Amino acid sequence: MVNYKELGLVNTREMFKRAVAGGYAIPAFNFNTMEQMQAIVQAAVETKSPVIMQVSKGARNYANATILRYMAEGAVAYAKELGCEHPEIVLHLDHGDSFELCKDCIDMGFSSVMYDGSSLPYEENIKISRQVVEYAHKYDVTVECELGVLAGVEDEVASEVSHYTKPEEVIDFATRTGCDSLAISIGTSHGAYKFKPEQCTRDPKTGKLVPPPLAFDVLHEIENKLPGFPIVLHGSSSVPQEEVDTINKFGGNLPDAVGIPEEQLREASKSAVCKINIDSDSRLAMTAAVRQYLAEHPDHFDPRQYLKPARENMKKMYIHKIVDVLGSDGKLAQ
Ligand code: G3H
Ligand code: 13P
Ligand code: ZN
Repeated sequence: MVNYKELGLVNTREMFKRAVAGGYAIPAFNFNTMEQMQAIVQAAVETKSPVIMQVSKGARNYANATILRYMAEGAVAYAKELGCEHPEIVLHLDHGDSFELCKDCIDMGFSSVMYDGSSLPYEENIKISRQVVEYAHKYDVTVECELGVLAGVEDEVASEVSHYTKPEEVIDFATRTGCDSLAISIGTSHGAYKFKPEQCTRDPKTGKLVPPPLAFDVLHEIENKLPGFPIVLHGSSSVPQEEVDTINKFGGNLPDAVGIPEEQLREASKSAVCKINIDSDSRLAMTAAVRQYLAEHPDHFDPRQYLKPARENMKKMYIHKIVDVLGSDGKLAQ
């Protein structure tokens, strides 16, 4: 058993409080590889931003749970080496699907966990969420729970339809679970295809899809029910069209990939939304750079040659999100 405080990590409590009060959101970036970790830390240090580095069950299977934990510990040391005296880095479990998985992460040094019972019946979701919260709070680990179902694939939880979070349930859910933050469903979804073309309109000039707006009315109702309570948005990649175009130009095939417009995420960040999850945009930034590099250098085969521009491109994207979309730059406590 190792407590995250020994690793120099922090939980989300104080940073969420400041973010809600200050009208900005903390970036939550998923990582599976060393290059993603390096790019996240470089971006956070250069912008003086707190950051949540999150690990999914899939990431643990891909990279090995122990390695990821040590990478997060390394991230703190790396941030200090880059000149940040007091980095605020959270190691967070993304979409934990059982009490045992959450416990395992807490025991190995995570500072925050998500228990995602959103696909379960309401009472069952409350019961397991509460169990996770009780265990986590013994170690001062913060817990995110979810109410409402996002469309698309939520790790192992497949859902064809999305069910917006019901504002009338949030007080009961937050009170009975004791969770520290609440992930809600207001029209975002995971992946690079967030909306079907028939749900969108088309920009007559560019031919690109224009998605329907997020349900800000639902968000505001939730905020009124739980004033100041930290709200989380999953599925918040914006699927930058220049990355999609680069991927398609250099041999990829991502027709009609579409995400959440950044203006809407900027708007949400000014509200009680204080954590915004971004994974797909990192995947797109990495893939676009690798495809372009390999297409332009067919004789190169050293992974460092193509992973270097991939890392640079992800870093540029992370900085853009922090500075231009979420507004968490310059928001370290000290
Ligand atoms: O919400 C899902 C995240 O994008 C993680 O995806 O389960 O493929 O690692 P993953
Ligand atoms: P995206 O697929 O939109 O990047 O969402 C990531 C996410 O919600 C991770 O939990
Ligand atoms: Zn998610």
